[in-house]
Amino acid sequence: MRIKLSKWKVISFGLGPIGKSIAKLALERGSQIEIVGAVDSDPELVGEDLGRVLGLDTRTGIRVQRAGKGLYDEADIVLHATTSFLSTVKAQLLEFCDHGIDVVSTCEELAYPWFNHAEAARELDSAAKERNVSLLGAGVNPGFVLDVLAITLSGVCQSVSEIHGSRILDAAKRRLPFQMKVGLGMSVDSFEENVRTGKFGHIGLPESLALTCASMGVDVDKIDQKISPKLATSPVKTEHFGVIEEGMVIGLVQDGTAIARGRRLATYHIEMYAGAVDPYDEIEFVGVPNISLRIQDGTPGDIATAAIIVNSIPRVIEARAGLLTVKDLRPASSVFA
Ligand SMILES: NC(=O)c1ccc[n+]([C@@H]2O[C@H](COP(=O)([O-])OP(=O)(O)OC[C@H]3O[C@@H](n4cnc5c(N)ncnc54)[C@H](OP(=O)(O)O)[C@@H]3O)[C@@H](O)[C@H]2O)c1
Repeated sequence: MRIKLSKWKVISFGLGPIGKSIAKLALERGSQIEIVGAVDSDPELVGEDLGRVLGLDTRTGIRVQRAGKGLYDEADIVLHATTSFLSTVKAQLLEFCDHGIDVVSTCEELAYPWFNHAEAARELDSAAKERNVSLLGAGVNPGFVLDVLAITLSGVCQSVSEIHGSRILDAAKRRLPFQMKVGLGMSVDSFEENVRTGKFGHIGLPESLALTCASMGVDVDKIDQKISPKLATSPVKTEHFGVIEEGMVIGLVQDGTAIARGRRLATYHIEMYAGAVDPYDEIEFVGVPNISLRIQDGTPGDIATAAIIVNSIPRVIEARAGLLTVKDLRPASSVFA
């Protein structure tokens, strides 16, 4: 645990749409947070002032670097938003550990790597402990809607027999990289080909399921997952893909089931498509008592992700060393405007 009384010094690592929102919010919280460095591999951004990259009128004096070298000594924590896959980010995370710097990352597979990537999780955990570093995978989904909220709600149940979660959202209102990963504008063949790569669709559903069950004392044996295309039933006008004709893909439907103790413990259902009507997030517990929680209109993923990453900074800095998950920390909270 490292408690600091001065401003938290952060590195913005990854400046796609999500990394930029995180950096903007960190700048807005200037009384608590100081950005000491910015990193992105995009050649168009390297060398540019962070203020320009963020579309601000003011310059920050921080130039975007291709890598983090030279920045680590100054910083307390990395705000990391590059990719979804642990195999890609593991080397970066180990580099942060080597430099003794804490990390909060949007990498979906880092939200609960103990189920699908146990070996990498053990490696990261021991590297983090060795260097007294805290590593956290956080976000909205995974990281909040289908795990933190569920875990919190379960606290009022004397016992639980099943959990059901749903998240229905309008993909047309999300950033372009998100729309691409849910298949907007694709043909069915190309959608299915992408699904077969295992790197397509919403990443993080097994992590949310395994994390929630682990928090309630069960290591799941198996997670079944199915990803299907959602097809346009009439032409759909979109900002980035023009008119998506009938029969083409406007998003996806993804279902996950967690199995343990020889039975189904949890089912999560996600629909992410352009023009989704009546979006919502919902968690339902079958137990004693039965209880459910619905967020009408859903949690706005892109804004909320930036919020939860920035709001997690003090939680991570105060935390014990190791590879942590959101179930190990007090929930992040915001600040009054
Ligand atoms: N958990 C959650 O709830 C949640 C919510 C939102 C987003 N996410 C995840 O957060 C990540 C960021 O989202 P996004 O939409 O901003 O993604 P994005 O558009 O792919 O942007 C990622 C940025 O990081 C840069 N980058 C990639 N690898 C790098 C490296 N090794 N070193 C430095 N920079 C690197 C990319 O540069 P190049 O262009 O050169 O590749 C790009 O500018 C995604 O994986 C997304 O799925 C998670």
